[in-house]
Amino acid sequence: MTQDELKQAVAQAAADYVSEHAPAGSIIGVGTGSTANFFIDALAGIKSKYRGAVASSEATRKRLEGHGIAVFDLNDVDQIPVYVDGADEIDNALNMIKGGGGALTREKIVAAVSDTFVCIADGSKLVETMGNFPLPVEVIPMSSAYVARELAKLGGTPVIRAGFVTDNGNLILDVKGLRITDPKGLEAQINQITGVVTNGLFALRPANVLLLGTADGVRTIG
Ligand code: A5P
Repeated sequence: MTQDELKQAVAQAAADYVSEHAPAGSIIGVGTGSTANFFIDALAGIKSKYRGAVASSEATRKRLEGHGIAVFDLNDVDQIPVYVDGADEIDNALNMIKGGGGALTREKIVAAVSDTFVCIADGSKLVETMGNFPLPVEVIPMSSAYVARELAKLGGTPVIRAGFVTDNGNLILDVKGLRITDPKGLEAQINQITGVVTNGLFALRPANVLLLGTADGVRTIG
């Protein structure tokens, strides 16, 4: 199977999960990225059962609306039973690195409001220890040089993502070379640096369920 076929298989499995676990009339949280895009396409097939969705990025909002799915402002929504999103890396405890697409802050906010985070990923995303994928850190533009120096003190090599501005008008530092042996501790530590909006470690609020696409089918972990 190609990587896209694996992504499609987990996206369909996530739509089945939503059908089974999200009450009719509820609002679904929707992530960002190529795997999430396949999920949006699968969600379109069951859209009549739900009021609509909350989007974790402008790109996701546009794709949802393109399928005729109503998109709600998160401030108008009290409860999201299920949030479905991809990951750049995920470990066996379902900690993740996210933000390869630059939507980490809105993703983390929607995840915070959601009861259940369902991560959808092809098998290549499951790792023993995270850190091969550079950790994205969203920063207020005027703080980028200062935050980069502080991240270097933690042992990382930060690089500003060239030509990229987040949906929130900020910059991304991609940090190579971090040894992520304590994901929760590092997530909290980086978030304490003044100027950091958030970082792409999702360990304080990890996924609850991983739907992993493998050549043998979709594995459910968690
Ligand atoms: C977006 O900012 C990211 O967090 C994505 O969810 C993550 O990068 C996974 O993207 P793909 O499904 O495209 O690999």
